[in-house]
Amino acid sequence: MTAGPQEFAARVVGWQRTHGRRGLPWQDTRDPYRVWLSEIMLQQTQVATVLDYFPRFLRRFPDVKALAKASLDDVLALWSGLGYYSRARNLHRCAVAVLTQHGGEFPPSAQQLQTLPGIGRSTAGAIAAFCFGERVAILDGNVKRVLTRVLGFDADLAVATNERALWDQATALLPHHSLAQAMPRYTQGLMDLGATICLARNPDCLICPLRELCIAQQRGEPENYPVKTRKLKRGAQSLWLLLAHAADGAVWLAKRPTPGVWAGLYCLPVFESREALQAQLPVRIRARLQDAPAFTHVLTHKDLHLHPVTVQLPVSAKTGLEGAWFAADQWPGLGLPAPIRKLLSQR
Ligand code: ADE
Repeated sequence: MTAGPQEFAARVVGWQRTHGRRGLPWQDTRDPYRVWLSEIMLQQTQVATVLDYFPRFLRRFPDVKALAKASLDDVLALWSGLGYYSRARNLHRCAVAVLTQHGGEFPPSAQQLQTLPGIGRSTAGAIAAFCFGERVAILDGNVKRVLTRVLGFDADLAVATNERALWDQATALLPHHSLAQAMPRYTQGLMDLGATICLARNPDCLICPLRELCIAQQRGEPENYPVKTRKLKRGAQSLWLLLAHAADGAVWLAKRPTPGVWAGLYCLPVFESREALQAQLPVRIRARLQDAPAFTHVLTHKDLHLHPVTVQLPVSAKTGLEGAWFAADQWPGLGLPAPIRKLLSQR
């Protein structure tokens, strides 16, 4: 890019104010429920279609509690016609999680939002920027196109490290001042540029506010960006980890099965849900479980949202699970997945 980062943000914000999309029903609110619902609907669906579904959905489920209390059948019925029904299932799971784990309020940061079902890094960024003015990047397909072109970023986005580098650049370009006003405007501006001007084919460079900064345009080849060799469909999965530890620093670890995530490595016992974790433990241990903050670990093909659940046990207690105690001077020498090692080292 041929200007300072603040020039970039200022142009996006100024253009959104005068030329961006306005008056959409989810724009004049900072209510995280509405913004979240609209972002999930807009992920794979045209604005025109969402304009039809969004108000209907809100009339039936006016807040996150109403949605959480509804049956999945009712949610799926109202979603009918929008497609990609895993979105509706995750929507319902997310509403339940917000109600049961966050007291009915969406957590006010992208980092926490990202641990909820169906909320990926970019959607979490959008909600946090729109509702809380957080200085956090989004990077959906449209925004990737805008940024790779302006920056002349020609590394292959199918490679995870390159994608991460683009996230870093997207973060560096964010506004620095008046975030409460600037972040919603900037975020919407990037989305709007990608949707209306910086099109995949025949971008309208002549009227683009970033024209003078845009390296792809200067090279005369905007359509060659972004570069992506393989089509990688990224997924996300939530896993619950039992962190059973003893006063002397020992931890309970089990070897991961093959095939699967972390095959053959030593790991904390892994469960698909909080309920599954509890169900496999003796009652006397169940009562002492404590939830630690969730965090996200990025694999090549999916984001893992990891939810540690800790319990301190007497040295050599029986957990009833597969695995064994490993002493404080033993476990650091085992083959552990990086996020598990980090989690254990922080203790
Ligand atoms: N696509 C994804 N998010 C959007 C938004 N907030 N406005 C318009 N289109 C979008």
